[in-house]
Amino acid sequence: MNIKIKKILKKKNKSKIVCLTAYSKNFAEEVDKYADITLVGDSLGSVLYNYNSTKKVSLTNMIDHSRSVRLGVKKSLMVVDMPYDTYSSNNSAFKNAKKILKETKCDAVKLEGGKKIINQIKYLIKNKIPVMGHLGLLPQTAKGKFKSKGKSFKETKELINDALLLQNSGVFAIVLECIKTPTAKKITQSLKIPTIGIGSSVHCDGQVLVTDDLIGLNNTKIRFVKKFVSTKKYINLGIKKFSTEVRSKKYPSKKYSY
Ligand code: KIV
Repeated sequence: MNIKIKKILKKKNKSKIVCLTAYSKNFAEEVDKYADITLVGDSLGSVLYNYNSTKKVSLTNMIDHSRSVRLGVKKSLMVVDMPYDTYSSNNSAFKNAKKILKETKCDAVKLEGGKKIINQIKYLIKNKIPVMGHLGLLPQTAKGKFKSKGKSFKETKELINDALLLQNSGVFAIVLECIKTPTAKKITQSLKIPTIGIGSSVHCDGQVLVTDDLIGLNNTKIRFVKKFVSTKKYINLGIKKFSTEVRSKKYPSKKYSY
């Protein structure tokens, strides 16, 4: 087993796992300093391309961004999302996951879903492709407004069954998205592998956020997003100063000229 995956597994019930997204080298360099897992999420579709659904993200999009991220990731585990419709059968899942691993040199892939895609997940794992699971709100197939999951007894039971199924199939961790606190807690306590929460309470073994959201680059108004810093004002300041100095001919002075 990949040594970085072993390290992640050992954190269960000991220390919290930090997971963050990166879509390019410069971001990945900063994320990698703190995160245990760097995720090239297909959220890049909405964050960078304004797509109204991650369904529109292509395999080429994911591979190109992941190759850039790979240049910045030195120590964390690098996971890449398999985009929508790239894992609808065992063969397509294997062909596309192999391509992602070969072309991006990432450590693992992430797929959205439980029982419905369990054959593909088993097939990937049987063929030595490390897989991270994703349950709860599944952006690739969600219809209409994003809603939290695990409210009813039936939904909770299905989520727990899916989580156990994923664990028994060999996934090394599961992202739990927008799952009600008691259900996320129950799932986490039922598993030997770690859960990584996003909008799923403090009871998960780790947390993931979209980095652009937490640094205030992306104007997201989702309940679980906390803006830890407002980066936009610093970007604005640098660009404003450059513009002023160009217009006043202060820049480039002799120091910056050949
Ligand atoms: O696409 C993504 O960035 C994700 C995380 C937010 C979990 O799947």
